[in-house]
Amino acid sequence: MSSSDPVLARPVFGMRILERRLPGLIRKITPSGVWVLLDRKVEPVIGKSLRAALKCTGIPHRIFLFSASEKNKSLAQLETLAGRFLRAGADRKGLILGVGGGITTDVAGFLASTLMRGCAWGAVPTTLLGMADAAIGGKTAINLPEGKNLLGAFHQPRFVLADITSLGTLPAREWGCGLGEVVKSGMIANPELLRRIERTPPRAIRRAGAEALALAKGAAAVKVKIVATDPLEKNQRKLLNLGHTFGHALETAAGARKLAHGEAVGLGLLCATQMAVGMGSARAQYATQVEKLLLRCRLPTRYPGKLPTRSELTRLIARDKKKAGPTVDVILPRQVGRCEILPNRAPGELADVILRTLG
Ligand SMILES: NC(=O)c1ccc[n+]([C@@H]2O[C@H](COP(=O)([O-])OP(=O)(O)OC[C@H]3O[C@@H](n4cnc5c(N)ncnc54)[C@H](O)[C@@H]3O)[C@@H](O)[C@H]2O)c1
Ligand SMILES: [Zn+2]
Repeated sequence: MSSSDPVLARPVFGMRILERRLPGLIRKITPSGVWVLLDRKVEPVIGKSLRAALKCTGIPHRIFLFSASEKNKSLAQLETLAGRFLRAGADRKGLILGVGGGITTDVAGFLASTLMRGCAWGAVPTTLLGMADAAIGGKTAINLPEGKNLLGAFHQPRFVLADITSLGTLPAREWGCGLGEVVKSGMIANPELLRRIERTPPRAIRRAGAEALALAKGAAAVKVKIVATDPLEKNQRKLLNLGHTFGHALETAAGARKLAHGEAVGLGLLCATQMAVGMGSARAQYATQVEKLLLRCRLPTRYPGKLPTRSELTRLIARDKKKAGPTVDVILPRQVGRCEILPNRAPGELADVILRTLG
């Protein structure tokens, strides 16, 4: 990250705030133009208020619809979009706005990090995962045939505006994905988030209302605090990978249709907690508590189908892109709100943890 990069933006959260807050946020950054990448599926949900907000700024703007999918989070799409943005007059003094889930904000952010050597961008996340995680922290990326998120940059958005109302149309599975990351954040640094899940009826958790607002906001605050101390993931930011080493292996083994990312992360949280219990670093009740939290969020607590073999799991864990060398750093949850980085574990040891926990 260069010294000219903007500081980490504090996300703005609320209900029905898009029309009210977006114009002011845009005006602070640019008088020259706004180029919007809008998730096609979100257009019917948010399109009208987005257009009203943009019109209200009096600043020239263009909206480009984007079909959000991992396949379209690609170099080919990036080239197409860059061309379209430039032909529409995008310049370095303008603002790129990503409106949609994590795929859309990742692509918009990465486009902004490279277009004309970098321009400002803002994020309007419309999934719980986007609000709690993906739009926060300035990691932007696209996929390569060799793997997910392999071409990317650290480029902080100038603002993140999360209007909880837009979650009204979120499919059930996407709620689960976001909630997996919310539980993760609570376990890392925010016990109140977990207490809130424990006392809220499961139906109310998955509604675009006050509970979702509190959960998304609380999880985002955990991420902001950690990223502020370690924007380039040299140390503390690794804590945000809690559950992910196990989760990525399970997600790849099962396939995204059977186990979505947040669902796999949930299982990963269970594995990480059982590992801590097995090492005597956490109490057995903690693992039971995590399982109950996942159930309340209607997240799976069992692997769908037959578990992969030990050698298959070992191979998948060894492939984890966040590892350096033959070993893997694992995040170990010790108690609610407290984790530690456990360096240099053998992939086979982690495969055994998965088999013990989910077998
Ligand atoms: N940059 C980061 O730090 C970071 C962190 C976590 C995840 N990610 C990335 O984020 C992506 C996952 O994000 P996601 O789960 O938001 O996925 P997504 O963008 O694919 O959105 C999920 C689905 O919901 C749809 N959708 C979005 N908002 C909606 C709404 N309000 N109503 C109805 N449908 C809606 C989308 O079109 C899509 O089909 C992955 O590509 C992942 O790599 C990035
Ligand atoms: Zn994740």
